[in-house]
Amino acid sequence: MQSELRTKLMEALSKADGAFISGQEIAEYIGCSRTAVWKHIEDLRSEGYRVEAVRKKGYRIISAPEKVSESEIQLGLETRTIGKMIHYQETVESTQKIAHQLANEGVQEGTLVVAEEQISGKGRLMRSWHSPKYSGIWMSLILRPKIPVHEAPQLTLLAAVAVAQAIEDTTALKPQIKWPNDILVNRKKVVGILTEMQAESDRIHSVIIGIGMNINQQLEDFPEELQEKASSLLIESGETISRSTVIQRALYRLEKLYDLYLKEGFKPIKDLWESYAISLGQVIRASTVNDTIVGKALGITDAGVLLLEDDKGKVHSVYSADIEI
Ligand code: BTN
Repeated sequence: MQSELRTKLMEALSKADGAFISGQEIAEYIGCSRTAVWKHIEDLRSEGYRVEAVRKKGYRIISAPEKVSESEIQLGLETRTIGKMIHYQETVESTQKIAHQLANEGVQEGTLVVAEEQISGKGRLMRSWHSPKYSGIWMSLILRPKIPVHEAPQLTLLAAVAVAQAIEDTTALKPQIKWPNDILVNRKKVVGILTEMQAESDRIHSVIIGIGMNINQQLEDFPEELQEKASSLLIESGETISRSTVIQRALYRLEKLYDLYLKEGFKPIKDLWESYAISLGQVIRASTVNDTIVGKALGITDAGVLLLEDDKGKVHSVYSADIEI
């Protein structure tokens, strides 16, 4: 629920109709101090509003955040099945959780769950995922592939390639993939992917691909502990990017690669993945639950497993780990 104060602030800025309104006038209208006005304007900015502030003139709204609702995504979407059904909510706990429920209810393949904000976004390895309002893409895609259960991790790698391609389609940036599916720009993480599966021992019911993309955050929008390692497309490119355009491209690329995968298998996807991979041929450190392996990254297997060669020449298969490059 929007606070009464926020409603008043929006009223004051709307009345100005794109012209400047002084901090003092806003403060009087709302009934708070000028410092409080400044703080609320900062909150607006962190939610994606562009607000100009000029000394002796005051504030004016330049643009409101673009949303990623069903219509914004579907207008101009060039896919056949992926994203044809969209479940959109402004605020959710986690799109992943909703996608699991919908998958259980039997929704069609390609159904997408998308939100403006997640209050308990889930990351890999039981971590949380910071998902502030209007500045990133928080979405989960439901697929129902007819493939053996053990091949499902290949879809995670496929998703990483599709998202890397979508970043190239919409920016001048050069994304790289860190095994298994972090996308980095200038060595900082801009995208995380979490793939979960509903399956019996021999049959996949659904694969849920959760994609979190940092798009229009400024550095100060990240919690301090993330500021060194994480980034957004805005920070790296210097440009505000349309989230719905990035979603459309990601869905388009996902569909193209998924079709290719179902027709020709993992080989073409693996080649593409390796073309984006960071640190192949270099020595990296993989921390697994029980162990830390330092070794040269040789590549991935057809099951998407990372191969690391240690200094004694022994090759280790890494199934799940935190990688330091
Ligand atoms: C990672 O740890 O790198 C994976 C992060 C995945 C985050 C996305 S955001 C959309 C979907 N919903 C979630 O709760 N998590 C995934």
